[in-house]
Amino acid sequence: MTKNTREIFVTGGAGFIGSAFIRLLLDETADCKVTNFDALTYAGNLDNLEGLDAARHRFVHGNIADAEAVHTALGENTHAIVNFAAESHVDRSIANAAEFLRTNITGTQVLLDAVRARGVKRFIQVSTDEVMGSLPENEDAFFTEESPFAPNSPYAASKAAAEHLVRAAHHTFGLDTVVTRCGNNYGPRQFPEKFLPLAISNALKDESIPVYGDGGNVRDWIYVDDHCRAILLALEKGRPGAVYNVGARNEHHNIDVVGSLLNTLGKPRSLIRFVKDRPGHDRRYAIDPLLIECELGWRPRETWETGLQKTIQWYQQNSRWLERTRSGAYKDYYRKQYGTEVAAT
Ligand code: NAD
Ligand code: DAU
Repeated sequence: MTKNTREIFVTGGAGFIGSAFIRLLLDETADCKVTNFDALTYAGNLDNLEGLDAARHRFVHGNIADAEAVHTALGENTHAIVNFAAESHVDRSIANAAEFLRTNITGTQVLLDAVRARGVKRFIQVSTDEVMGSLPENEDAFFTEESPFAPNSPYAASKAAAEHLVRAAHHTFGLDTVVTRCGNNYGPRQFPEKFLPLAISNALKDESIPVYGDGGNVRDWIYVDDHCRAILLALEKGRPGAVYNVGARNEHHNIDVVGSLLNTLGKPRSLIRFVKDRPGHDRRYAIDPLLIECELGWRPRETWETGLQKTIQWYQQNSRWLERTRSGAYKDYYRKQYGTEVAAT
């Protein structure tokens, strides 16, 4: 490391996307080192950091809503903060929104204050398409950067509030901020409360797969490393104050996602179990990624077929990771959410 080394402060880097981003950043840049600041909630997992170069990655256990902890952990010359830290699961926000407000809203403001106080050059907010609500089905409608905010779940509302705070910090204090808004990520190391890893892990154990409502909801799926490449481009070349939608033009009905998965695994469709719908369930997300494609030259590298294949293989080959995440508190969550026991490990 030289004196030109850039210090990147990544929050939430022990989670699914944050850990993938740190891997990519260390692989694809030679001049960066990372402070990974994470509260290790139920979704944070030190196993996700296995194999990272210790000379370029420093883990700090801390909460983004705790200003003193953030200030203590920030280096003298932090180049950028990339904020992944969040409560990220819609169903949990419906059960109890309190932590979503503290982490997603207060936490983001604490980080923005720190950027200002400590002269951090750039702030990247990892946001979500859910801030724009739900699109009509069977219509040629897509989310663009101009789409109005219409968050429908407490999770989405908290992420929308965070985006407003980022916008205000740029407008009022001139902070150099960039927001990325992505759709549904899939890939290795995703906590199995989310639909795809839940479906994969249940199918691997011949356990039924809960599908909400009629299974006709549409999500726009993106392989996690493609999302991370978009965030890296936003960090390196994003326009100050910009918002970029990130999507791989890969819409699928939930029922078809499970169908593809069962086909690939050679498991029967009888594993599908339709269950009570999620309250306020958004019907369709679909992203128009034209801006990031034209302005930053971003393109996804994985197709749905290659990405799904890689993802399934990873879960098949990492049964220890899966067993550990499905033990303990996960069992209580699963029982409350689905009214059945999670398959024995
Ligand atoms: P995740 O739930 O897997 O990980 C979140 C991480 O943040 C965990 O490591 C957790 O310990 C940490 N964390 C939570 N509260 C914290 C706090 N107060 N202080 C410090 N760390 C804290 O989430 P993910 O799926 O990796 O999502 C990462 C980010 O990307 C989130 O901001 C989410 O809103 C956004 N996003 C996710 C998706 C998706 O499909 N998963 C899509 C678009 C945007
Ligand atoms: O669009 C981006 C968002 O994608 C991110 O901001 C969120 O952090 C991320 O969790 C995700 O939100 P969703 O609510 O779309 O993801 P989830 O995996 O919870 O659900 C995907 C779809 O599958 C959704 O239509 C609900 C449905 N579903 C989900 C679960 C957990 C089921 O049918 N059964 C289930 O058991």
